[in-house]
Amino acid sequence: MTDLGLESAFTKFPAMLTLSAESFFLVKGKKGGYQLLSAICPHSHGDIRKADNCFTCPSHGWHFSLDNGECINGPLARMYSAPVVVKNGHLVVEGELP
Ligand code: FES
Repeated sequence: MTDLGLESAFTKFPAMLTLSAESFFLVKGKKGGYQLLSAICPHSHGDIRKADNCFTCPSHGWHFSLDNGECINGPLARMYSAPVVVKNGHLVVEGELP
């Protein structure tokens, strides 16, 4: 289990986080649920960055949705993800980090 901190501390999404020396994005979906997305590209492990309207991997140009990490310009793929729940006002990843 990983406690990401108080839900109220996150006011802008996606929020970039570093956990165990790895980079992640905390995103909030259109229906309000949270996910933690890995910044490691599912294609060939490039470093995903946030662009203006999407996440992007400069290695081969895949783009991903800011809402849920789904690939929006290529194959049926998505960023590695883990669900985030709210527990006692904190955002928590109950399983393994993505
Ligand atoms: S490694 Fe990210 S698109 Fe290829």
